[in-house]
Amino acid sequence: MLRSNTMPSKQADKTRARVSSYLIPLIFVATSMMGANAQAADSMDGLKKIMKGQIAIMKPKLRNKVENLSTDTKMSLMSILAMHSRYSDKATLRQVMLEVLADYQTMVMGIMTDSSEMAADSARRLANHRIPVGGLLPYLGLENITDERLAVLDSFNTSVEGNANKLADAAEKGDMVKAASFLGPISTGCVGCHQVFRTYPGQSEFLKLK
Ligand code: HEC
Repeated sequence: MLRSNTMPSKQADKTRARVSSYLIPLIFVATSMMGANAQAADSMDGLKKIMKGQIAIMKPKLRNKVENLSTDTKMSLMSILAMHSRYSDKATLRQVMLEVLADYQTMVMGIMTDSSEMAADSARRLANHRIPVGGLLPYLGLENITDERLAVLDSFNTSVEGNANKLADAAEKGDMVKAASFLGPISTGCVGCHQVFRTYPGQSEFLKLK
């Protein structure tokens, strides 16, 4: 169910309580995994600060749409941020995606060569990929900055990153059969997100193709 920012405050309080009941344990788990390198993402205040910083550099067209998102959507965006500790002040999402693809390929190489270290390290790097400058939203297209469209973002993210961490756990235990079984769910997460949020890559406007 979608909510606007103008919901009655009692209902808003209830929503916030419900959201924080799952967000707080999630932040706890995510930050305890990130260890000493964790940036400000180690608390609700830190996450809010990161998101405010991202919004501050958005042009008004995007900024207005982001500010009008519901509390639920903003919470789910912060829960995605909570799973990451590497924030870039210049990388674009395309650059991050190519790095993610390289990690994905290294992960497969690790599995195929029975190298638990190669598989586990690249899977963990993939799961904690860089967050591009301004966050994910500036790269998704203005038409996608709605509560409805963004509601699916978290599930794709969890599917990729949750399964990459599971793959790393299995690889660390030397169980390559189990590690390999997570490749499918990870790829499904990549492709699912592309279907919703990505246009066909690298298309030329100078061809008469449809
Ligand atoms: C949260 C959604 C999301 C997930 C999950 C995701 N991607 Fe992407 N990906 C995108 C978007 C959006 C773009 C287009 C970015 C742009 O053009 O600015 C993209 C673009 C790409 C590109 C093309 C880069 C280019 O130069 O145009 C590659 C390759 C890619 N992703 C690989 C992956 C792989 C591999 C995974 C999974 C391990 C993955 N992505 C998971 C959203 C996602």
